[in-house]
Order: sequence, then structure tokens, then C-alpha cells
Amino acid sequence: MTDLTNELTAWDRDHFFHPSTHMAAHARGDTPTRVVTGGDGVYITDRDGKRSLDAFAGLYCVNVGYGRREIADAIAEQAGKLAYYHAYVGHGSEPSIRLARMIIDRAPAGMSRVYFGLSGSDANETNIKLVWYYNNILGRPEKKKIISRWRGYHGSGVMTGSLTGLELFHKAFDLPRPPVLHTEAPYYFRRADRSMSEEQFSQHCADRLEALIQAEGPETIAAFIGEPVLGTGGIVPPPAGYWEKIQAVLDKHDILLIADEVVTGFGRLGSMFGSDHYGIRPDLITIAKGLTSAYAPLSGVIVGDRVWKVLEQGSDQLGPIGHGWTYSAHPLCAAAGVANLELIDTLDLVTNARETGGYFRAALTDALGGHPMVGEVRGEGMLAAVEFVADRDERRFFPAEAKVGPRLSAALLERGVIARAMPQGDILGFAPPLCLTREEADIVVAATAKAVKAVAAEI
Ligand SMILES: Cc1ncc(COP(=O)(O)O)c(C=O)c1O
Repeated sequence: MTDLTNELTAWDRDHFFHPSTHMAAHARGDTPTRVVTGGDGVYITDRDGKRSLDAFAGLYCVNVGYGRREIADAIAEQAGKLAYYHAYVGHGSEPSIRLARMIIDRAPAGMSRVYFGLSGSDANETNIKLVWYYNNILGRPEKKKIISRWRGYHGSGVMTGSLTGLELFHKAFDLPRPPVLHTEAPYYFRRADRSMSEEQFSQHCADRLEALIQAEGPETIAAFIGEPVLGTGGIVPPPAGYWEKIQAVLDKHDILLIADEVVTGFGRLGSMFGSDHYGIRPDLITIAKGLTSAYAPLSGVIVGDRVWKVLEQGSDQLGPIGHGWTYSAHPLCAAAGVANLELIDTLDLVTNARETGGYFRAALTDALGGHPMVGEVRGEGMLAAVEFVADRDERRFFPAEAKVGPRLSAALLERGVIARAMPQGDILGFAPPLCLTREEADIVVAATAKAVKAVAAEI
């Protein structure tokens, strides 16, 4: 009989080009091949029978948890009726129309239409094109630059990888490309001037943005993009007053605001949208991940009234918009989205994200807040991070080569819990499914405390 385990391992090393993976190490077999075969609630199981509590919900996307029959059935039923039809020239399927309506019902005020894609990256690519199209219709061809933040994450395409403000995603790819610019990250813990209060630091970030706009010329700046809470850049909630001050600068210069809610949309912060959570008034909102809880790939751009009115008028001059994907509004993905949003309501997961998320962060702080290697425990809703430092008082960081973050996540995995070593800095990220219970939160915290103790002893 063939040894499927060995065969799969060999095929994996020889033929599968994994994203975000050290290619040579994987091909040599220096890194483990982990084949995930099942999932149930907050747990995943691999082919060796190892069960791990997934405290990062895949890539912060399996928000309703694994193994939800309701979503699987909705996809199967739609596949039986109509697996595919396109959405060009006014075509639609019942779930895609229903889902657009459900999204607008849940979105912040002033939102008008939903354009569907398949990933957060392609949705941000759509945003960039819409912003350029909008300014061309308005007769402002010079207003095209887009400002993002260092440590922002907005995807890994050519333009969206440029918007992303993380070194790893630029290195050797000739990114970032114009007309993308970056401004300071709202990362209070890593601020240069430690005498600043949070409010003062927010003002400093707004001043830096204003200075960049003035230097470039406000007539050249089309849009600003930001995640309500910095995600992949370190899971960093905004300092007090940040969004209000940023919004004021953008309003003053007639700059559109794109809220990238790929992580925060549909409940992760304990509110349906991060924009509502922080009083942000976006013109465009990026959604993906939590829209289907990753049961099928689906993303979207929610277009606000202000932009929509211009686009609609523009089509009388320009004709049909020359932008579309074959799989825009794919019926199977839309069916998953409808069932997923219904489940979020039925299980009241937004409330659970707020309440159990708060419990989880408090427990993490209790267990680790006083540890000499822990610089900060932070988060919002069902999103948390622990940042590790070599010296707490001097806020000195470990050298990247020490790989403290990856060692901690490996030590945690040995103890049956998955957390993510965030790519820049020694930061353990937690984004469990929104259905996490207090008992499960306790398991994560206990395992984290043990992993930190073990790694601290080695260092
Ligand atoms: C805030 C944000 N925007 C965009 C993306 C890109 O999404 P995708 O990986 O689906 O292209 C991500 C992915 O993690 C994200 O966190």
C-alpha cells in the first residue's frame, strides 16, 4: 500500500509553492509540512491527529469558527442550483443581491453599493482604481497620490503591496511604487518621544500627515488608507483621538478616506465595523475575511454615497466601467456570505467578541503584564497582542536574528495553541474565532504563560 503520508510530504516539497514561506528551507525539508485535515469550533486537527486551539482563526478570518454546517449546506445548496454565473452587465444571483443588501444594512451610515471581489488585495486594488476614476470624472487628473501608513497591511499585489508598509512585503519586489506614499504609524508604544501623552502623539501623527500633504501639494493627494486597528503591522489599536484628528486633516484637503476593514469588519472589535467603533467616516470600506468567515473566498468594496454619485454620473460620459473579475460576486461565495452573516447574528458573536474578548485580554494582562520580557499587552474586542522586549524600562527590543517572536509561537504550538508571530517585531498576535468561550480563553492564556516562561529561560 502507498504511504500517503510520505507521498504527500514529498509532493508538497517538490510541487507546492507556498505563500509566505522560506522556499529553500521548505524544499529541503527543514520546516515541517503540516497538513490540516479538519476543524471544529476553535480547534483544527492535522493528519497526525494533533488538535490545536487556533487562537488566530486561520489568518484572522474563520470568525464563526470551524465546521459550521449551516454555511457548508448553504454552499452545497447553491452549487446544486447554480454554481456560477457572472455579474457583468447587470447580471446577478439571488445570494449576491441579498448579500449586498445585508452588508449595507450592517455598514456605517452613508454607504451605498458593494463591489464584490475575492480577496482583500483585489478589493484594495479596486479601491485604488475607483479613487483614480473618481478624480478623473471630477476633472482633477493630478489628484492621484494615495497615502498609507508604515506598518499598514493592505495586501500583496503590486499596488496593494505598495500600500502595505512592511519591509518584508517590499524587499526585492521593487516596491513601494508611486503614487503611493507612507506616513507615520500610530504606534504609541514605539513612539520616539516618550514624554508625549497619547493625545499628543495622535496630534503628532496628524501633523506629520499634514506636513506630507503640504510637501506633495494637497491638489495631488487623492486618498488616505488605514486599518481602524493596525493588524499585521503589530495589532495596534489607535492612540486616543487619532482618527478624529486624521479625519480633520483629510476633510480640510478633500482627500477620500478608505477604511480597510478586512480584519475589523463584521464584529472582530466587538462592533459590527471598526469605523463605527472609532467614529471614522469612510468614503470606501474594504471587506473580506469575516464576510464569509473564509468558508469561501469573497471580498468587497463598500462605496459611500459621495463617491457613488460621482461614479454613477461618470458612466453617462464614460460608458460602462471597465473593471470586473470573472468571479466577482461568485454565487457560491455569496451564499457562504449570507449564511455567515446570519450566523453572526444568531449566535450574537459581535457581543461575544466584545465580552469574551475583554475577558481574554484582561486574563492575558493578569498572567503576563508583569513579566520582565513583556513590554505591552494590548488589543480591542477579540484581537490581542503581547509585545516582547529585551529591556522593559529602556524599551529596548531584541535583535531580529534572535527570532524571539517565532520561538514563542513555536513554544505555544508545542502546547497546543496557535498564535501568530507578527512579521515585524517580537509580537505574538491573537485573533481567535469570535465564538471563543471563557474556558477556551483560559486555555490560551495558560499555554501562553508557559511558553513565555520556557522561552525566557532559554534567552
Ligand atoms: C487589513 C488587510 N487588508 C488587506 C488584506 C489582504 O487580504 P488578502 O490576503 O485576502 O488579499 C489583509 C490580509 O491579511 C488585511 O489584513
